[in-house]
Amino acid sequence: MGKIVSLILGVETSCDETAAAVVADGRSILSNVVASQIELHRRYGGVFPEIASRQHVLDIVPVIEEAMAQAGTAWAGLGALAVTSGPGLVGSLLVGVNAAKGIAWAKGLPLIGVNHLEAHLYANWLYTPRQGRQEDAPPAPRFPLLCLIVSGGHSDLVLMTAHGQYRVLGRTVDDAAGEAFDKVARLLDLGYPGGPAIQKAAEGGNPTRFDLPRAMLKEGYDFSFSGLKTAVLRIVQKHEGSGKKPSGERSRQLTPRAAPAQRGLPVADLAASFQAAVVDVLVEKTRRAAEEFQVEEVLLAGGVASNALLRGQMVSRVQVPVRYPPPNLCTDNAAMVAAAGYFKHMAGERADWDLDVKPGMGLRCEL
Ligand code: KG4
Ligand code: ZN
Repeated sequence: MGKIVSLILGVETSCDETAAAVVADGRSILSNVVASQIELHRRYGGVFPEIASRQHVLDIVPVIEEAMAQAGTAWAGLGALAVTSGPGLVGSLLVGVNAAKGIAWAKGLPLIGVNHLEAHLYANWLYTPRQGRQEDAPPAPRFPLLCLIVSGGHSDLVLMTAHGQYRVLGRTVDDAAGEAFDKVARLLDLGYPGGPAIQKAAEGGNPTRFDLPRAMLKEGYDFSFSGLKTAVLRIVQKHEGSGKKPSGERSRQLTPRAAPAQRGLPVADLAASFQAAVVDVLVEKTRRAAEEFQVEEVLLAGGVASNALLRGQMVSRVQVPVRYPPPNLCTDNAAMVAAAGYFKHMAGERADWDLDVKPGMGLRCEL
């Protein structure tokens, strides 16, 4: 077994998952604990910020203790503590940052502030060893590489030339890709979170039934998804207006609203056509950038990177190897925070005790 250089405890509370993890050498996952709040927010159709921060307060200490116990690590065995300081919901970020500061101070550990987007990207360095076998490590990603970060809050196409060296080639000018999935799922009454629900609904659907817009497909590397969402809304309104009512309906007031499929809405075809349009734009821009910048690899990151069509299309249309994390490392987790923290730790980065949250933080452009 290779020598363990450094164990990092990662802490993540930027949105609706309270998470802690211990990672060795920035790559090998010793523990990865996530307390999801999805059930709490489902009834609101999205994340309710006040409820999220209160739940983080309740979960943060048990989740950290569980991550330490599962890793079988003593506090003295840790090299540093890494925490997401932004971007995200301010009340949620504050819980993780303050917990991390308190623990780092009490245990005498260096504190490292991590950008949540950078953490998503570093999920591609992670692997789960069989019983601590470091030799299981797959080769690390090679630079220069291109990373498509697609989450509920961001859609960024990033050129990475070395650890910590990024150039954002493009980003969304309106909705993020995950946000578009969530909004369209709401239009189709598919529930929350929308991404997995759309993917499932699309399974039996015809992706060419509706010719939906692919905004800015040939121009630059920025994305725009709000027109696509509006196009879906128009189709939904048109179908509702066409007055297909469930048989036997006598009074609108007395009859509960029928499910979209019962209202004559072709949900599967709409979901499939929408998913195909989003994926087409994401893949085409990544393919063009991979060619222009002659990258070694393409990485996918963020919640939308768990989309099966996106993964499949990227692999078949991009010329270089494509890498993506398993679904549980695509969505929010703390192992990715520990991985990003490790490479910062190695580069000598340290946060001061006045480390503050940065809810609107973007990915730094350092080229
Ligand atoms: O990265 P993440 O867990 O949280 C943020 O940092 O935003 O991403 C959550 C987003 C949600 O919008 C969710 O609908 C989307 O990722 N998502 C998916 C899939 N799984 C999650 N989108 C498309 N297809 C999926 N299978
Ligand atoms: Zn995220």
